Amino acid sequence: MSRDDGSSQSPPEYARPKALPETVTLVEMGARDGLQNQPKVLSAEIRSELINRLAKAGLKRIEAGSFVSPRAIPQMADSDKVFALLHRQPGIVYSALTPNLRGFEAALTAGADEVAVFASASEGFSQKNINCSISESLKRFEPVMAVAQQHGLKVRGYVSCVMGCPYDGDIQPFAVADVADQLWQMGCYEISLGDTIGAGTPLKAKRLLEHTSKNIPVQSLAAHFHNTYGQALANIYALLEEGLSVIDTSVAGLGGCPYAPGASGNLATEDAAYMLEGMGIKTVVNMEELLKAATFICDQLGITSRSNVGLALISRQP
Ligand code: HMG
Ligand code: MG
Repeated sequence: MSRDDGSSQSPPEYARPKALPETVTLVEMGARDGLQNQPKVLSAEIRSELINRLAKAGLKRIEAGSFVSPRAIPQMADSDKVFALLHRQPGIVYSALTPNLRGFEAALTAGADEVAVFASASEGFSQKNINCSISESLKRFEPVMAVAQQHGLKVRGYVSCVMGCPYDGDIQPFAVADVADQLWQMGCYEISLGDTIGAGTPLKAKRLLEHTSKNIPVQSLAAHFHNTYGQALANIYALLEEGLSVIDTSVAGLGGCPYAPGASGNLATEDAAYMLEGMGIKTVVNMEELLKAATFICDQLGITSRSNVGLALISRQP
């Protein structure tokens, strides 16, 4: 795409600082976090079509659904059908969110390549989200870890509310590090730090990383930042400077959790890819295909994209 208004993705004018990573892995959340709080419940056919389009856009890690209570999250019911309908592409990891052994077994049967367990750094959110304390949730994950290991499946661990909780308020980084360490000790290969309500700011994010990377290598940490206060991109940049290289993003900036009232979507995949490529950091994302996926899902949901880059680029299309 050639442009004449300064939005060109030609090589960066200034040399990339040494501290920034050469490549960044985007973990696509659109089909799970993106859809789980939408008022309109989409069919398995549409959800799998979204995932196929995201794969075509070059995304290599895609969270395809969750195996949680359909009473709690009706939007994620039929995640098994979503997996069954996928046109799987080699080299792409299709993962699933699982809260307990039952969810893990369902994900395994559905053919998930990888699963994720999710805990919270705050007791208030843990109770609302998964109806148990932090320590009870970690106990629930133990059998998941054991069975996953038997089946050779990798397990990712999320920690929610890392920079604030809708129920408990401010959250201290050492509390996050404590939960992250326990997930790591249990055998999670990567810990994704969830700013569930998007309350963080860049220096707070750096402090968070400083604490969580004491016992976990920074290469094994990921940032999962919701963009409620418009801080996600700045927070991500702050962490790239510290060596973080895995970012959770969502097509069209979709996302949210019914137990985090008022929180908006994840950092948009389009916005992250544009910033990264603009700094000479490779993401392997095909922006044109990504925009098509964004238009497809926004049309299905009857909403407007929350991605600034998406809106800007689409407005330039003839
Ligand atoms: P519970 O009440 O403690 O457990 O729920 P339970 O065993 O008493 O089961 C309650 C109901 O769930 C029963 O059905 C079970 O059969 C069913 P009912 O009698 O009501 O008809 N059930 C299940 N159904 C399907 N699959 C399962 C399963 N397990 C139990 N695996 C539970 C505990 C975790 C299940 C429930 O609280 C739940 O599903 N919560 C939903 C949590 C959720 O999906 N939240 C959103 C995702 S997390 C997130 O968005 C944050 C993240 O993005 C990072 C960030 O942003 O910070 C990851
Ligand atoms: Mg989330």
